[in-house]
Amino acid sequence: MEDRPITLSPSLSNTHSSSEEDKTVLEIWGGASLHGHVGISGAKNSALVIMAGALLCSQDCLIRNVPALADVTRMAEILSALGVKLERQGNSLLVNASHIAQSKAPYELVSQLRASFFVIGPLLARLGVARIPLPGGCAIGARPVDLHVRGLQAMGADVQIDHGIVNAYLSGRNKRLQGAKIYLDYPSVGATETLMMAATLAEGETIIENAAQEPEVADLANFCRAMGAKIRGAGTNTITILGVPSLHTTDYAIVPDRVEAGTFLVAGAITHSEISLSPVVPDHLTAVIAKLQAIGAQIIEDAPNRLRIVPGHRYVATDIETLPYPGFPTDMQAPLMALLTLSDGDSVITETVFENRFGHVAELTRMGADIRVKGTHAIVRGVPMLSGAPVVATDLRASASLVLAGLAAQGKTTVQGLHHLDRGYENLTAKLQKLGANLQRTQLGADGDSPLVLPDPTTVPTVTKPGVTKPA
Ligand code: UD1
Repeated sequence: MEDRPITLSPSLSNTHSSSEEDKTVLEIWGGASLHGHVGISGAKNSALVIMAGALLCSQDCLIRNVPALADVTRMAEILSALGVKLERQGNSLLVNASHIAQSKAPYELVSQLRASFFVIGPLLARLGVARIPLPGGCAIGARPVDLHVRGLQAMGADVQIDHGIVNAYLSGRNKRLQGAKIYLDYPSVGATETLMMAATLAEGETIIENAAQEPEVADLANFCRAMGAKIRGAGTNTITILGVPSLHTTDYAIVPDRVEAGTFLVAGAITHSEISLSPVVPDHLTAVIAKLQAIGAQIIEDAPNRLRIVPGHRYVATDIETLPYPGFPTDMQAPLMALLTLSDGDSVITETVFENRFGHVAELTRMGADIRVKGTHAIVRGVPMLSGAPVVATDLRASASLVLAGLAAQGKTTVQGLHHLDRGYENLTAKLQKLGANLQRTQLGADGDSPLVLPDPTTVPTVTKPGVTKPA
């Protein structure tokens, strides 16, 4: 691989809410019917952890189907800061971690992306040392890393937290992590992934009990196995990893994004439109499909890896409780709530995974929804219609919820806080426009009255020559 850094889309090079970005809004004129087919991108959460997993290997790893998202850009920057070489061509990312120059991840980057903490496992396994700033809280909850830390300690690492930095070291003769039997108090996705990655290069066998069963955990395991790791049981609640001395080069394509697919199913339902989507793995969407069907939409697998939604005329309320996979995913709670605001009757939504994931409620209420929050419950009373309004996204999935509500609302909705949306939805504006939705991304002029129409910053970049990217 050539010695050149990843080329990043300038528009994605900063996910902070700058004053420039604050002026960028998504204008949606609700009521349009959608039709046609939408392509689903690679899974964000797989891409992020598989990029971290590439640190385990000292040879080239080609990762395919990587979505062009702000979070992916951020993870690439973190790997780059560690000395890893990356090269992006369309949706493929070539990662070479033959030389890891740094064991310390930069605070400015880790604080912007919780998933970057996941590099702790591979770094420790490769270098015998890792120093990662605590990722801190975020809009949807405190999100501690105690399960990651306790698991690494069980594998023989000395882990101390000083001044906000998690310092992990391996002592002993050969500086290898030791296989261990680890029971997770909660099936944390991130902790399962951190420990599974660490265990691939450990001495002996590691068993992770009460492991997360999310498809992205299984995807990471498949990626590691493609590099020669010995992993059994990923996708179940018990994962067994037999450590090997080293891993080898691979060429791996990540799974389709089940949350993006679920969001488009809701887009079809809420606009009473028939649309199809592919590629999807229908089994990854079982809980979401079951709820959409209970509400009154039909979801048909009309070809392998393709789903079609046949909307209902009216929808009925249903209760939802978010749970670890295969339960209803917390990432689909906000998108589905948008649909329930327009479903007859009272729905009770219970959020059990994150403690503060109702940021969209106040904004949906501004659009005419009738929602009351009591602790971890949101009671949604269906209303006949939503009306367009200016709204602000508070987190990634909240932003999707507001876009969905805007597609169904009467009149114009203006969504601010698009840096959240760009973290997790590739090319959403263009994909919805292609389906017939009436929306555009604009930047208000200094006087606020001369809007400039903008493309999605999450368009897949094409590398034309070293150091230059242009939108595909
Ligand atoms: C991942 C996903 C995120 C998804 C979530 C749950 C990525 C990059 N993100 O996040 O989109 O919403 O899974 O499906 O893959 N917890 C602890 N201690 C820990 C770790 C977690 O208490 O050491 C708690 C968290 O605070 C949270 C719950 O466990 O309340 C679930 O977190 P976890 O499954 O770890 O989610 P993430 O890996 O952060």
